[in-house]
Amino acid sequence: MTRGVKNAPTKASLSLKQASSKKASSKAAGLGSVKESEKYPLEVSVSNSNLVSDPVSPHITVLLDEAVHALAIKPSGLYVDGTFGRGGHSRKILSQLGPEGRLIAFDRDLTAIESGKEINDQRFSIIHSHFASMQARLTDIGVTQVDGVLLDLGISSPQIDDAERGFSFRYDAPLDMRMDQTSGQTAADFLRHTTEQQLAEVIKNYGEERFAKSIARAIIKERDDGRAITTTGQLAQIVAGAVPRFESGQNPATRTFQALRIFVNQELEELSLTLPQCLGLLKPQGRLAVISFHSLEDRIVKQFIRDQENRDDLPSNFPVRAADLPQPKLVSMGKAIKPGAQEVKANPRSRSAVLRVAERTSVL
Ligand SMILES: C[S@@+](CC[C@H](N)C(=O)[O-])C[C@H]1O[C@@H](n2cnc3c(N)ncnc32)[C@H](O)[C@@H]1O
Repeated sequence: MTRGVKNAPTKASLSLKQASSKKASSKAAGLGSVKESEKYPLEVSVSNSNLVSDPVSPHITVLLDEAVHALAIKPSGLYVDGTFGRGGHSRKILSQLGPEGRLIAFDRDLTAIESGKEINDQRFSIIHSHFASMQARLTDIGVTQVDGVLLDLGISSPQIDDAERGFSFRYDAPLDMRMDQTSGQTAADFLRHTTEQQLAEVIKNYGEERFAKSIARAIIKERDDGRAITTTGQLAQIVAGAVPRFESGQNPATRTFQALRIFVNQELEELSLTLPQCLGLLKPQGRLAVISFHSLEDRIVKQFIRDQENRDDLPSNFPVRAADLPQPKLVSMGKAIKPGAQEVKANPRSRSAVLRVAERTSVL
């Protein structure tokens, strides 16, 4: 377990440790190397067919065709979209389902749920829940097996662009950062009670920020001097004053904001707890498709698929017949898929996306 970082379920913390054990490369699909303004562009081309409109800001669905294709939709199948967002992937899945097909979507954000309610289709339902409760919530409605699960991780453009949500340093707003506005601690709550050591670990582990210690020291000093950190503007200013240098074109607070968002929403823990549930839910030949935007997430997905795929972590000369080895439960469907140059140009936010796909075998 990462020392000093509270709030994480034990099982999940193991994966955090695994994920952080190799030095995370900011080049390898990490958010760290992408400017916040590029990840969540304010200006988007309205002619983009991946664009789903929203009163606050549109969301351009990433790897739309690739992810839905990866699910190998059976017209009468039952699919789960664990991250509805604004429903870009969901709508495409529905367009490929026949009259007997069914799609159940999840999102922990109430604005996403409101947007999902606009889909008037008997084959579709949406559940307000974090996806780590996926198996339990599906069991509640009598669903124990599905033909495919899609997870498009991270946050949506409407979330980042709604100043009130407190995800962005581009606006001065209450420091909230919760994807689920109905539960959990806000980033301001966390800063109110955290220790300098814990904060430095969060910023270092989740933000891959080399100046994590100085930033944590500055934040805690501000708080202990009697100035509670309650707004995004205040936090961005403290971080800017604590970082001696930063990547050109990148706001110095980018990594700190990313780290706090990941921590507050327990994003890596959610993922680690959900992947085994997907395995348990998938029928033979059912597909799992996960889009990550962060090297730590992608590492968890890659490792999970590899663990389920590798039937032998025994030495090659171990005296056991191949047939007696544990059989793979998942088979990876090719290499990681990344957006092409055209998609990245149309939607710079997509540039750190990595799609991994695996198929369930019939092994129990
Ligand atoms: C990148 S967006 C998905 C966009 C969507 N695929 C589309 O095309 O509109 C991610 C969404 O997943 C939701 N989300 C992230 N983590 C979640 C979790 N652990 N449980 C449920 N929803 C989550 C966020 O609230 C957000 O709406």
